[in-house]
Amino acid sequence: MSVHDTFTQYVLPTYGRFPLVPEKAQGSWLWDNQGKKYLDFCTGIAVCSIGHCHPRLVEAIKAQASTLMHCSNLYEIPQQAELAKTIVDDFVKIPGKVFFSNSGAEANEGLIKLARKFGNARPAPDGSARHEVITFRNSFHGRTMGTLTATGQDAIQEGFAPILPGVNYATYNDLDSVKAQITDKTAAILLEPIQGEGGIFSATADFLRGLQALCIDHDLLLMFDEVQAGFGRLGHDMAWRAIAPEIQPDAISWAKGMGGGFPIGAFWVSDREIAPQLTLSSQLGPRTHGSTYGGNPLACAASLAVLREIKEAELNKNVIEREQQVRDTLNTWNHPAISEVRGKGLMLGIALNADSINTAEGVTPALALVLKLTELGLLTVPAGAEVVRWLPPLNVSAEEVDTALSLMRTALDSLTS
Ligand SMILES: Cc1ncc(COP(=O)(O)O)c(C=O)c1O
Repeated sequence: MSVHDTFTQYVLPTYGRFPLVPEKAQGSWLWDNQGKKYLDFCTGIAVCSIGHCHPRLVEAIKAQASTLMHCSNLYEIPQQAELAKTIVDDFVKIPGKVFFSNSGAEANEGLIKLARKFGNARPAPDGSARHEVITFRNSFHGRTMGTLTATGQDAIQEGFAPILPGVNYATYNDLDSVKAQITDKTAAILLEPIQGEGGIFSATADFLRGLQALCIDHDLLLMFDEVQAGFGRLGHDMAWRAIAPEIQPDAISWAKGMGGGFPIGAFWVSDREIAPQLTLSSQLGPRTHGSTYGGNPLACAASLAVLREIKEAELNKNVIEREQQVRDTLNTWNHPAISEVRGKGLMLGIALNADSINTAEGVTPALALVLKLTELGLLTVPAGAEVVRWLPPLNVSAEEVDTALSLMRTALDSLTS
């Protein structure tokens, strides 16, 4: 039976899959089972942050797997303590505490629970708990019941009603629309500093500053979903710092790139006082939250290797230089098929002029370009109908970016001719 036939018979068809069977990968390159080589600017959708099979990550996993792979969170796991310290001291740089999960959706579930706990500790004027969270249209926060509710996209929620009560949607980068959603029951605002799946839209600095002010005025938590954009993807340790570094969030979620391919997620909660002698991080105390696998020694050893490599190899610097290289080249082309280059760092969205791209019936311009690029040997990801995402490893080289740009040029020319 071919891989395709086995998939069709035994795997739920939740993804529209490309006809590509990956076999092995190294650095920025991936090979399929036919021996064809691809430059990987998809990286498992922003996951393989230090490239495929980086020796430091492989060694860390091997060493930990042969020493202690898993033990319960009932014990003091040293790798977990070390990873939490690294995240707080070297990346967030605001006092707080971390909880470890296995995915981005789980990390965001933690943020939603934190908002509810906070709304109990700081109730509405009538004494009832505040439980509402404001999220944004076009956002993406995950596929669990809580996070698909937080996700402001009808297509993601369709068929799953009733969704979680208490989520209200505002318009991204529109402060008045946020004000209109604030009620006595609002406890928090949750947003991506850059909307990823929604098409690579960045929050403006003024918008983030306005949200911080609203949160202070209305006693709300400001929570960032950095699952796709965190840990160097935007050329800064934290995604929001690429936009408005002075913002002080209350909570942040991550996953994807923090494990470099090993499944791990996390959320951080600030130690700030929410009442005299009461910190926000104390709200998630014993028995309020948990995960069997979350933060096990193997996952934490893997993530520590990734985060240390991001720091020690100064990958933020490379990210900013490679972004400039991409932007400079695309600007020089002034290609009629490209309407705009959005995003920051190595989370770039190349928006297409739908009218200039020749597509087959039922194929979006973004999909047509992704398919063409795949045929030419470059893996990328669509974001919506008209945007192609470039999410290369943070240590991608200048030569590899040049190769990707030349494949892009060939693909665009062939689709517009
Ligand atoms: C911003 C954001 N949040 C949450 C998620 C969900 O993460 P996961 O697929 O690990 O559950 C994603 C996944 O694409 C994401 O981009």
